[in-house]
Amino acid sequence: MSSFEEVFGRTPTATAYAPGRVNLLGEHTDYNDGYVLPIAIEQRTCVSMSPNSGDEHALYSEMLDSTVCFTLDNPPAEHFATYVYGCLVEAREHGIEVPMVDIHVQSNVPMGVGLSSSAALEVATLRALRALTGAPLDDVHIAQLAQRAEIEHAGVRCGIMDQMASSLADTRSALFLDTRTLERRLVPLPPVSVVLVINSGVARILATSGYNQRRAECEEAARRLGVAALRDVDNVSAADALPDPLRRRVRHIVTENARVLLAVDCGNAKDFGALMNASHASLRDDYQVSVPELDQLVALLQAHPLVYGAKLTGAGFGGACVALCEPQALREIAGTVLRNYESAGFAGRLLVPSPVEGNEAK
Ligand code: GLA
Repeated sequence: MSSFEEVFGRTPTATAYAPGRVNLLGEHTDYNDGYVLPIAIEQRTCVSMSPNSGDEHALYSEMLDSTVCFTLDNPPAEHFATYVYGCLVEAREHGIEVPMVDIHVQSNVPMGVGLSSSAALEVATLRALRALTGAPLDDVHIAQLAQRAEIEHAGVRCGIMDQMASSLADTRSALFLDTRTLERRLVPLPPVSVVLVINSGVARILATSGYNQRRAECEEAARRLGVAALRDVDNVSAADALPDPLRRRVRHIVTENARVLLAVDCGNAKDFGALMNASHASLRDDYQVSVPELDQLVALLQAHPLVYGAKLTGAGFGGACVALCEPQALREIAGTVLRNYESAGFAGRLLVPSPVEGNEAK
């Protein structure tokens, strides 16, 4: 663990934080102009910055214990650095004067499991840059620049959910967001329930290519149905004329948007949980982004008497599952499910609530 002071020999001028997120409902709807319902998690990323007098930016990652130097004319080869590079480039294109900076990154957001560690890094970077330069960026602008950084520089044609969640959500209420208009409101979790997140232990290989392929399929389906985006289809039967897999993709998007709208008004944990269960089935059967381990973990969660509902979270293809649970004995629920998952031959891990009390990026 090396602080900014230890790496760069002076105190940082600006420091900013941004959280990861877990999505409760509304999976793959954001790039179809639909509805989403993420909530921030307690794990977060901290970015510190100070101007330097050299001719390169220097970026130190505490997790990797390595420093990468780059200019904005040449993308760095190191993957984690492309997110920061992308943010600085997009900020410059947005008219912000970006000085040469030393940057220190520290994070406890689990990486590569679908909890938006990349959005947390992007949003924290842009917040630190805002604090450093006084640039007039509001939180929505920050999310938009962060999304551009991800699409243009990290090669994932993502929607705007993760960046909006990291920039605007908190850990107590979910963020109900219309990704077309960016209208949003905070929605409390149904009484009396809490969120549990468990990692399946399956790495999300193929996630980028599978993700971009799903997006292309949705665009093709929208084109064939003559709508601007699948958000504009409100009757599932409209999909009947399409060949598979387009029919299945449309069915998922239409039913998933409806589930988000039902969930924000349902007001009780049992119905909310049933919508999460239906979402998982749709992601597995129609959107086809689940894997056997996620199905197994979700089934174990759903079978627990103190769990209202469970589904995979984020893009899928591996990564984590989210459950809505009764608050008492949360760690016991996690312990039972993890033991049963292990008996089935897999190795999962509790992520939320954080297995280490007070495990915050300092
Ligand atoms: C990833 C993307 C988001 C969203 C989810 C799936 O997290 O970054 O934009 O599409 O997958 O819901």
